[in-house]
Amino acid sequence: MANRSSLRVGVVGATGLVGRILLGILQERRFPVGELRPFSSGRGASAVLWRGRRIPCAAASLEALRACDLAFLVSSDEVSERFGPALAAAGVWTIDDSSAFRLHKDVPLVIPEVNAQALSPRRRLIAGPNCTLTGAAVVGAPLLRAGGLKAVRLASYQAVSGAGRAALEEYHAQARRAAAKAGRSGPLDIPPYPEPKVFPKPIALNLFPQVGSFDRNGDCSEEFKVREELRKIWGARALPISATTVRVPVVRCHSLALWIETRRPLGLPRVRALLRRAPGLKLWEGDYPTPASALETDEVHVGRVRRGALPKELSFWVVSDNLRKGAALNSVQIAELLLKKRWL
Ligand SMILES: NC(=O)c1ccc[n+]([C@@H]2O[C@H](COP(=O)([O-])OP(=O)(O)OC[C@H]3O[C@@H](n4cnc5c(N)ncnc54)[C@H](OP(=O)(O)O)[C@@H]3O)[C@@H](O)[C@H]2O)c1
Repeated sequence: MANRSSLRVGVVGATGLVGRILLGILQERRFPVGELRPFSSGRGASAVLWRGRRIPCAAASLEALRACDLAFLVSSDEVSERFGPALAAAGVWTIDDSSAFRLHKDVPLVIPEVNAQALSPRRRLIAGPNCTLTGAAVVGAPLLRAGGLKAVRLASYQAVSGAGRAALEEYHAQARRAAAKAGRSGPLDIPPYPEPKVFPKPIALNLFPQVGSFDRNGDCSEEFKVREELRKIWGARALPISATTVRVPVVRCHSLALWIETRRPLGLPRVRALLRRAPGLKLWEGDYPTPASALETDEVHVGRVRRGALPKELSFWVVSDNLRKGAALNSVQIAELLLKKRWL
């Protein structure tokens, strides 16, 4: 166990959307960082603000990261593949937000409120889940315990920032163009945009049912992740899960229309009581959450709780901040658990 007041903490991808939020959360929650080592691509000079000081970012290297007690990987699948296993083998607790190892059998995939028991003192590489399914995982967990799960269906409404900084820039460029032309050539016009580089279609004043690339069955990679990661987190290997993932012109916070069919019947008052006391959840009654109301909050927000069309089916509207609970906050909560267990 490292000296807790002087933990050396590396953040790979410190200048990215998740990385910057992560640095803020470490400070807000007074995580005991003795020395911060921020890393970026090294493609240009960059720095981050840490406790009121500007700290320059170094290009990530195994040598520099090996000297850390804890490393957060918030960069890309390729960078995580390069550093994750090597760091864990060198004894560095490594929390990875990429999708590189989430489905690997030796890597715990953890949402602390849902499956903290998946952590082990011997597994130093830990994955955080895809930001789209976090809300469904947190809402489904108390229902799984109380009634068992028979089937899950969802449609996502995913914010642009879920795809990183370059995607956000592409959206803003299109949105500026749209605003400049609004109503000029006709009240219903969408302006012509330059060919998108990050997304498959224009996103401002538009949406599309594709997040990632399509496989042979017609599923896109996000739909595969939602299904397989939820099964792993809930420990429900064969659970039928249908998902359609949609990118929408919202800057931040992912929303879900979610239908959960339980094995045993659960009345609505019981379901509401379960959700009200579930950790990490905020139940909305009388009103419903939106991306604007969930922005910069830590909880998963759930509203419009009602019966579905099938006998044991329940219907929910779920919103969570993809950059906080969907990524950075979840990773910091995992690190806090490691501290609490005195493994770190
Ligand atoms: N965005 C989300 O909502 C979300 C949610 C869950 C998980 N994630 C995952 O979190 C990770 C980061 O996502 P993001 O949205 O923050 O991405 P992003 O905004 O595009 O930021 C990427 C970061 O990685 C750095 N980087 C790029 N190449 C690198 C290299 N070779 N070595 C070291 N650092 C490098 C970049 O540094 P420069 O500044 O030098 O380019 C930047 O700091 C991804 O794995 C993503 O899948 C994201």
